[in-house]
Amino acid sequence: MDLELTGKSVFISGSTAGIGFGVARTFLKEGATVYLNGRTESSVAKAMAKLKASFPDGIVYGIAADFSDGESVRSLLRQLPDIDILINNVGTYSAQSFFETTDADWQQQYEVNVMSGVRLARHLLPKMMEKNWGRILFVSSECATLVPADLIAYSASKAALLAVSRGLAQLTKGSGVTVNAVIPGSTMTEGAEQFLAHFAQKENKTVQEAEIHFFEETRTASLLQRFASVAEIANGIVYFSSPLAAATNGAAIKLEGGSTGGIL
Ligand SMILES: NC(=O)c1ccc[n+]([C@@H]2O[C@H](COP(=O)([O-])OP(=O)(O)OC[C@H]3O[C@@H](n4cnc5c(N)ncnc54)[C@H](OP(=O)(O)O)[C@@H]3O)[C@@H](O)[C@H]2O)c1
Repeated sequence: MDLELTGKSVFISGSTAGIGFGVARTFLKEGATVYLNGRTESSVAKAMAKLKASFPDGIVYGIAADFSDGESVRSLLRQLPDIDILINNVGTYSAQSFFETTDADWQQQYEVNVMSGVRLARHLLPKMMEKNWGRILFVSSECATLVPADLIAYSASKAALLAVSRGLAQLTKGSGVTVNAVIPGSTMTEGAEQFLAHFAQKENKTVQEAEIHFFEETRTASLLQRFASVAEIANGIVYFSSPLAAATNGAAIKLEGGSTGGIL
């Protein structure tokens, strides 16, 4: 299937590793021009070099900016060229007791997870509306509806994203612009690999046993009963950002292996 992405420009927040990096790879494979982002010049340069090695003809740029720092974000917005597709991917979490989660913890997760996408969309959506084409995709999480007790601040931020996404979609009525959110489930990023390895070592299990244990004890409702691969999540994100997905607007699209239940 040709996703008709050749020549489209894409900015992906938090894309030097994890799902964002997988999304960058997939867009490059489809011929899009990719703008990578991470907090430091060195992590961005390293990720760009990795992509260049896999896609020597691919067009990749990088912009270092830290979404927890307002000035850094303002500088990013000044540097951003015309962007056709915005992937609001950056996200941070801190697993802790509700009673030990400070105001600063709440604010930090809201700033990175919600305000990153708000600021980027406020800057880019008017330009997309002007040219009557564009895609904005927010990366939420299964936690928005599961709300694990040790991830309340994170889950609240991911639920907020769904409202922001739906609200912005309403501003696109009758245009060629769409705004959607995706809801990934547990995904085998470098971070998840480290989490499983650490748990396996602590419990004297193999990594495979640790993964089985996670789905038996923690994500019990998952139908997939394993971590999704980064590529599986990236494929969904890239499809729903492509011209082919023009009929999907204002949606919250589940990529969570059935963990949130329900038929909708
Ligand atoms: N992994 C999962 O199981 C899962 C499940 C559901 C939803 N999600 C959501 O999917 C998205 C991606 O998750 P992930 O697990 O792939 O994340 P991750 O591996 O933790 O992401 C790392 C990336 O985020 C960048 N980053 C972190 N903080 C940043 C900041 N303040 N400003 C700019 N960049 C920053 C890092 O850049 P540098 O290190 O280069 O600075 C790196 O590129 C998140 O929104 C997450 O909530 C993930």
